[in-house]
Amino acid sequence: MRKKIVAGNWKMNTTPAEGVELAKGVAEGKKEVCECVNFIVCPPFTHLSEVVKVTRGTGIAVGAQDCATEAKGAYTGEVAASMIASLGVEYVILGHSERRQYYGETSETLNKKMAQAYANNLTPIYCVGESLEERKAGKHFDVCKAQIEEVVFNLTPEQYSKLVIAYEPVWAIGTGETATAEQAQEIHAYIREVLASKFGEAAAETPILYGGSCKPSNAAEIFAKEDVDGGLIGGAALKAEDFLAIGKGF
Ligand code: PGA
Repeated sequence: MRKKIVAGNWKMNTTPAEGVELAKGVAEGKKEVCECVNFIVCPPFTHLSEVVKVTRGTGIAVGAQDCATEAKGAYTGEVAASMIASLGVEYVILGHSERRQYYGETSETLNKKMAQAYANNLTPIYCVGESLEERKAGKHFDVCKAQIEEVVFNLTPEQYSKLVIAYEPVWAIGTGETATAEQAQEIHAYIREVLASKFGEAAAETPILYGGSCKPSNAAEIFAKEDVDGGLIGGAALKAEDFLAIGKGF
């Protein structure tokens, strides 16, 4: 049985105080959602310490939105995976399309970040997905395949066994436009096939999350698909009520 995951990517939103309130709201409402759902909240770096404290013992895990390529040293502005892990954070989102697009992250960068994450016992939520132009040109399968081959294929089987994948079509992120449940299933199944070509049966255990304008009104339909194991939620993760309602989609 694959893990069911609903992860909230808060991006660069909320003050630390608002973030703590949001996390508390999620923790309180979680009782009403099936225990089978693993909730993860991913606030900005500045909130991690407090959010870990208020979610401790609630069954909600905390993730960071990124980590540095290097272990430590003269890298102004960067935050090392070891620093994040030392706070009690368990996950890290890597390769989000906003990082690839606005901060020039490449597979080379991401291989280093993945190595740092694993060296510090953080579970990566590795994001893949195509742009609108790529989808229109029918290249979405190839784009996702390359993003996986160039990074995930470098993992050892042991590292791979911890990995979470998020498929996030760039054209659906923050746009209000969602992939249809059929589109999500089609590409999730394909991604699993690509993973299986390298990691064999272990691919059947890898959670593959859908991301891109996922909200309470469409979550259930998307999550009902065989190869969709949950969601990576942006906008709708900023309201505890909506985030929890998405969890009820299972
Ligand atoms: P969205 O963002 O839900 O606001 O579309 C998803 C994401 O970027 O992780």
